[in-house]
Amino acid sequence: MALLNILHFPDPRLHKVAQPVARVNAFIHQLAQDMAQTMYAAPGVGLAATQVDVHLRVVVIDISTDKSQLITLINPEILWASEETKVWEEGCLSVPDIFDNVARPARVRVRALNLDNQYFELEADDLLAVCIQHEMDHLMGKVFVEHLSSLKQTRIKNKIKKQARKASLAK
Ligand code: NI
Repeated sequence: MALLNILHFPDPRLHKVAQPVARVNAFIHQLAQDMAQTMYAAPGVGLAATQVDVHLRVVVIDISTDKSQLITLINPEILWASEETKVWEEGCLSVPDIFDNVARPARVRVRALNLDNQYFELEADDLLAVCIQHEMDHLMGKVFVEHLSSLKQTRIKNKIKKQARKASLAK
């Protein structure tokens, strides 16, 4: 197992569109395992392969507090989304220390392959629905801050630049 390096916004590699997984093989098993370990270590509740610079449709999510509910979604597709939306304060391991409100469908039904190469369906609400949609955005090359106004996005980029300058001065 290995900890993977997480790309930080505004890295252009976060905007690559991920390709479908053709076969759930040993490489995908290893990737999913490493992604889960990286997510838990961060710590975070979700991670998309895009964030570790692997441009395949693989997502790991665990919203439990005791790391007991790991979900691996391979080639996920949204089958249905509610018309009702919900606003949630989101954060992202690729955008450290930034949290902001995003409105998304309150409930979704998703279909994906699991690590045994079997399709399964999942209906989600609340945080799990937010996570699934947030991570699937990553697979499309979209970071959650792109749901915010352009003014807010500019502020966030400036804040991140400042943080990076501070971090390099501290070295
Ligand atoms: Ni994210």
